[in-house]
Order: sequence, then structure tokens, then C-alpha cells
Amino acid sequence: MKTLIIYDSFFGNTEQVAKAISEAIGSASEVKVCKVGEVKREQLNGINLLIVGSPTRAFRPSPATNKFLKNIPANSLNGVKAASFDTRMSIEDIKVRILRFLVNMFGYAAKPISEKLRKKGAEIAVSPEGFLVNDTKGPLKEGELERAKEWAKKLK
Ligand SMILES: Cc1cc2nc3c(=O)[nH]c(=O)nc-3n(C[C@H](O)[C@H](O)[C@H](O)COP(=O)(O)O)c2cc1C
Repeated sequence: MKTLIIYDSFFGNTEQVAKAISEAIGSASEVKVCKVGEVKREQLNGINLLIVGSPTRAFRPSPATNKFLKNIPANSLNGVKAASFDTRMSIEDIKVRILRFLVNMFGYAAKPISEKLRKKGAEIAVSPEGFLVNDTKGPLKEGELERAKEWAKKLK
């Protein structure tokens, strides 16, 4: 199974999750991990599984992730399985009440990523998932890399 994992990352946390996911998908399949700004359109040709991960920034995917998703040609993901994940802060760690309210209202990056992938023709293989960081810049909370691997195994 030819798999492409595309991620964005400012502080390295989403990159770590992307790499953990690639390990979990395993050597039996052909897995490539690529930062979103470096991916070339041809890399989408012939893939069976596309996984896109982004840090949540202002309740959304990062600008580079949005740009990548927007530039995927219409219907070019027909027949491709896809999944998305994000990294995010835990709601309990957000001390400012208004921010908590906004987070509940506007959510995180993973779900809109999956929606956009579906609109380009992909079949969403597992529910979008979020992995938690401590503070604004991380590090990842304990156990999150293991949780990412378990999530990824559902895609095998
Ligand atoms: C400018 C900025 C905006 C952020 N917005 C959100 C947000 O809306 N929701 C959230 O849960 N975390 C938010 N965070 C925390 C990020 O999700 C966190 O930095 C990210 O998961 C780290 O991943 P990275 O190391 O791959 O960049 C924000 C962080 C920054 C710096």
C-alpha cells in the first residue's frame, strides 16, 4: 500500500506524530513522510492512502496546510483512502474562559482537513483525531505518540 503522510509543524510536535504514524503503518507498505511545503503534486499520483496532519492554529489547519488542500485538483483523490490528524492544546489547559468558549465553538484542524480531502474525492478511512501538547509549543503530552500509533494501525 503506497502511503503519503503530509504534515506541517512549527515546533516539531506534529512532525513527531507524523513520524510515529509512519512507523506504525510499517515497513510492509511503502510510506513517505513529507513536510507540506515540500510536497510535489506528482507525489499524489498512485497513492492508496493519504494522511494529512497539521498543528491547530487559531482553530484551523495551518495556512500552508490549507494552501496544499486547496491546490489538490478536483477529483484527483478518487479511489484514495485518507485520514487527518492535528495537534492541539487540551481544553483543560486553556485558562482564559473566552478562549475555551471559542475552542468549543470553532474546534480544531483535523475535521476540516478530512472534509476537504473528502471533497477532493478521498474516502475517509478513520475519524479525524487530535493529539495533545502541553502549553502552546509542546512538548506532546505523555502517551500521545503511542496513541497516534494505535490510531494509525486502524489504517493498515
Ligand atoms: C499562533 C498559535 C495559535 C494556536 N491556536 C490554537 C488553537 O486554536 N487551538 C489549539 O488547541 N491550539 C492552538 N495552538 C497550539 C498549537 O496547536 C501547538 O502550537 C501545536 O500543536 C504545536 O505543533 P507543532 O509543534 O507541530 O507546531 C496555537 C499555537 C500558536 C502558536
